[in-house]
Amino acid sequence: MQNRNEDFNTNELDAIASATAPDLGIDPAECIAPEPTDPCTIVIFGATGDLTARKLIPALFHLYLNDGLPRPFQIVGSARSHMDDQQFRNKMESALKDAEVLDPEKWPTFSTHLHYRPVDYEDPATFDRLAESLRELDSSQHTQGNRIFYIALPPTLYKTVAEMIGRAGLSTENTNGNGWSRMVVEKPFGVNLQTALELDQSLHQHFQEHQIFRIDHYLAKETVQNILMFRFANSLFEPIWNRRYIDHVSITATETLGVEHRAGYYERSGVLRDMFQNHMMQLLALTAMEPPSRFEADLVRDEKGKVFNSLRPFATNNLKDHLVLAQYGAGKADDHQLPAYRDEPGVDPASLTPTFAMMKLFLDNWRWQGVPFYMTSGKRLAQKITEIAIQFKSVPHSLFRHTLGPSIVANRLTLGIYPEEKITLKFQTKNPGARVCLRTVTMDFNYQQNYAGPVLDAYEKVLIDCMIGDQMLFWRQDGVEKSWSFLTPILDRCEDCGDQQAMLEFYPAGSMGPEAIKRLTSNIGNR
Ligand code: BG6
Repeated sequence: MQNRNEDFNTNELDAIASATAPDLGIDPAECIAPEPTDPCTIVIFGATGDLTARKLIPALFHLYLNDGLPRPFQIVGSARSHMDDQQFRNKMESALKDAEVLDPEKWPTFSTHLHYRPVDYEDPATFDRLAESLRELDSSQHTQGNRIFYIALPPTLYKTVAEMIGRAGLSTENTNGNGWSRMVVEKPFGVNLQTALELDQSLHQHFQEHQIFRIDHYLAKETVQNILMFRFANSLFEPIWNRRYIDHVSITATETLGVEHRAGYYERSGVLRDMFQNHMMQLLALTAMEPPSRFEADLVRDEKGKVFNSLRPFATNNLKDHLVLAQYGAGKADDHQLPAYRDEPGVDPASLTPTFAMMKLFLDNWRWQGVPFYMTSGKRLAQKITEIAIQFKSVPHSLFRHTLGPSIVANRLTLGIYPEEKITLKFQTKNPGARVCLRTVTMDFNYQQNYAGPVLDAYEKVLIDCMIGDQMLFWRQDGVEKSWSFLTPILDRCEDCGDQQAMLEFYPAGSMGPEAIKRLTSNIGNR
């Protein structure tokens, strides 16, 4: 048998197809521009921090340049440091310069929308002053009392700040000079089921569920959103998207970066809390969920919830059958020496925190019974890859077995999220020539193909959705709880019962991961 990997380029076919396809008359620019939004004020707590400088202000500025912010809008930075509006504006101007997105012509007008109000997160009086000042801005700038409170602070402060916002009368809607009021928080939403419930209880003391926007930046990635479009706007794949045709599914999010400067957070979190509780679970849900009856936030999130409900709990007395946990040791990448995790700044030299995990999961439902889902994520690996691979079953009967041997490479569909945003399908074709030879070819669709319009960064998308009040791309509390319900017994077993050391494997930084993954993958293809 001869199998050669050669890429079969479909550009020409595409050109013919698009020339004959009906033109639906949608201008790509219309897909970018957000729907008209209400005037509003965006209040950022933690305005002197990293997230504000690196992500939020660049995203807001880019939206402004693309006419994506409401009119009027105001941005109020808030943090412990004392500074005036002008000092805050100078700081944000440098942040935009650092991010290489400053447009010196547009900056002066944008900067007039920026304000700064100091607060002490423990002092209600400072929040009363903030409330007063927001009301003054509403009347001078006509922002109609609509407000987004973006909590760009460590999670330990979520509860306190939500409480302070509520006590200052800023969380109630359509009363007391307020319009709508929304709060944005980022993961982690607790560190286990119990703390997630406690956090939720305290947020709900002043905010209702529709006011809370829990961000998962993976959901804001175009290619992640495309999973549902691909599955449910095409009739081709959905009929075979099930246990009859699919052998297994691999969901991978590997990184080349190490822990960087985040040891304080990562040491307590590890890869299961950092990547699995949130991003990996969302990728799983989007891949496995049933079609909702309408593309609406609650209906989509109901279907995701059903996926989480059908996760088969791991037998915690036999975790090694389902889970590999590992930590990077010293290694090499491109001839550079890379330190071991335990030698990274701020990391305990005897740390047992896992930086890599592979899970073999099953979903106990009609569609997926018996199909393994391999979920892998880790830091300091050889490549940064985020993708979902759907491995179809082999043909039931190989009629070429006399000439080609018994096995033929099965079809594989890959939804590439990073580095290449693309969809590829591998299948078999005949190799030209008189002999019967097969070769595996790849049909590929590149996401940017035939598209030259602007692209929204994940934070821009999140901010727009928050302004229009669309919760589709945000976690709902029941989803958070279900995800924790699955992970908490595993974490308890790994962390609190003396198993942590026994579970932990090691892999060299810059490698493909620990050898131990063979434990989970050895029978792939033998089912
Ligand atoms: C974050 C994690 O949520 O996602 C990081 O805290 C991780 O540890 C990052 O590096 C990965 O995101 P992306 O978009 O680079 O795949």
